[in-house]
Amino acid sequence: METVPLADFAPYSDDIRIAAVEPGDDEALVTWNDGRRSSFHYLWLRDNCHCADCKHPQTFERTFDLLSVPEGIRPAELSVTSNGALRAVWPDGGHESLYHPGWLDAHDYSSNPSARLRPPPELWDAALNDMLPVVDYRDVMQGGAGLLHWLRLLRNKGFSLLRGVPTEPGQVQKVAERVAFARETNFGRVFDVVAMPDPNSNAYTSLALPLHVDLPTREYQPGYQFLHCIQSEAEGGKSVLMDGFAMAERLRREDPAAFDVLAREPILLRFQDADVDYRVRRPLIVLDAYGTVSEIRFSPFLADAFDVTAEKMPAYYRAYRKLMTLSRDPALQLRFRLKPGEMMTFDNRRVLHGRDAFEAGTGARHLQGCYVDHDEVNSKILFLERTMPAPAVAAAE
Ligand code: OGA
Ligand code: ZN
Ligand code: ZN
Repeated sequence: METVPLADFAPYSDDIRIAAVEPGDDEALVTWNDGRRSSFHYLWLRDNCHCADCKHPQTFERTFDLLSVPEGIRPAELSVTSNGALRAVWPDGGHESLYHPGWLDAHDYSSNPSARLRPPPELWDAALNDMLPVVDYRDVMQGGAGLLHWLRLLRNKGFSLLRGVPTEPGQVQKVAERVAFARETNFGRVFDVVAMPDPNSNAYTSLALPLHVDLPTREYQPGYQFLHCIQSEAEGGKSVLMDGFAMAERLRREDPAAFDVLAREPILLRFQDADVDYRVRRPLIVLDAYGTVSEIRFSPFLADAFDVTAEKMPAYYRAYRKLMTLSRDPALQLRFRLKPGEMMTFDNRRVLHGRDAFEAGTGARHLQGCYVDHDEVNSKILFLERTMPAPAVAAAE
């Protein structure tokens, strides 16, 4: 049996084997043991050799120099090993590559490449009010499967409500540190949401906050937000949440022209106080390279004076008002009163959050919040999946 070098830290399925390989013009044509067929370009295979000379055996980072071989490289020999791995011998000094079949299958770009991307978001609307995704704080803090379950909810649904959180300050940071670490901002590593005599944000008043995302004013908008309720005695102050991706998709369906304007035209988003002045210019609906909505930057109180061109201003306002109208549609909203001992956790680049006004004189209201970036959640999911029974496919962002 040949020893196939490890490709990386992730586990790959041992059930998949290569049954046969044939040389094509510039690709290896592979038949799997379940009958599927895939092809892999020779240059791609040479580039991804995972021997100790081409990939550092401890870091798994590439040490191979792509320019050390010609673009039209072809293997001198192609075969399948007795354990179903792919073997290639290259003309550059008889260099031998062995590819783990599970790794090769997980990186197969010749069939359904979208399967390798992160799972599509599970969109939701007001129907989620009757089945809020609730997770017990102790399960999260215990780590392992409980932590993974909560992180997958965050990634896929973009929202989860933790219950059973001790009603003392500092818990948001503890939860953040269960993932990795909190993202610090000018509001601190942890921020206290209370009505203050000298507020530097509408959040620190007793005013209603319309649905918004936090810090869209940053080049790199915080990925997840945790809001822990420590005290909630004041009248009012109910929480409202909305899946911003579902809202954007509805806009795309109902008014594609409005969607296009908001996805194309950058506007200035701004936060300022006595000490800072953050500005960034972005569209309110950000699309990724596939045209999929990847980020919502809607916050009515943080949009600066619009400065799209004069010809576009009326169309911009029309589209913006349409988005704002959708954000007030109860059919898309979650509404609940956040109670002491509960922590809302949500994707701050997807889910809009807001609150009703509250009566400052009727009792204390104290929430504590912090942010954790998408990177940390995604990385923790993949790390935890390494140790779980089902083999993880090396999922990309
Ligand atoms: C915030 C915020 C919600 C609330 O602080 O950004 O949205 O319920 N707070 O006070
Ligand atoms: Zn090699
Ligand atoms: Zn907010």
